[in-house]
Amino acid sequence: MQLNRFIQINTPFSRRHVKCLLAEGRVRVAGHIATDANLEVDRFVRIELDDQLLQESKSCYLMLHKPAGVVSATEHTEHQTVIDLIPPTLRQGLHLAGRLDLKTTGLLLLTNDGHWSRRITQPTSKIAKVYRVTTQDAVAANTAEVFRQGIYFGYEDITTQPAELERIDSHHSRLTLYEGRYHQVKRMFGYFNNEVTELHREQIGGLTLDAQLPPGAFRPLTDDEIALF
Ligand code: URA
Repeated sequence: MQLNRFIQINTPFSRRHVKCLLAEGRVRVAGHIATDANLEVDRFVRIELDDQLLQESKSCYLMLHKPAGVVSATEHTEHQTVIDLIPPTLRQGLHLAGRLDLKTTGLLLLTNDGHWSRRITQPTSKIAKVYRVTTQDAVAANTAEVFRQGIYFGYEDITTQPAELERIDSHHSRLTLYEGRYHQVKRMFGYFNNEVTELHREQIGGLTLDAQLPPGAFRPLTDDEIALF
């Protein structure tokens, strides 16, 4: 909905009066003075007129289809960030519940609810993350068994948790991880000197990337989806 329409509906003021309120800088959206009558506002953003609260900011939960070439961060000097893909009125307080590498595509979750995101990202939660993996070379026959047993990562001095590999065809597989180490999928295939050429996250726990979302698009989670974590 446009800001002028929102104010008209939620106050006794006429259309003309609302225009004046905006021009006088008396309206704040997400804490910032808003003068653009056509600014799109949604049900999540805080809206104030002088000292009067017209709408509280609400918890916000989004799924984004991350495209390749966009960085999983809120700020970056070089690349476009996933936050840049979200309209400014929705951005306030948003952070990422997990990350994907620059070239990786797929399901990314954003929220302003730190308790919720922690339930997804804390190592003890062991939530399944499902990736579709394309590799340079054919996947070696013993890969699934090695992934199931775990691979030693010298840098962290850990052995990866048992992971499940499902073969799709010679160069495509589906990998389920229950943790999120740095570049984990690439490093696991790196053990076989097999380069990951494409990586796409399809699922986090019971939540699957919406097939209707093209790369770069997002949508709010439904109440049932929020309740999954
Ligand atoms: N593992 C990787 O190597 N990259 C990702 O983006 C996610 C998991």
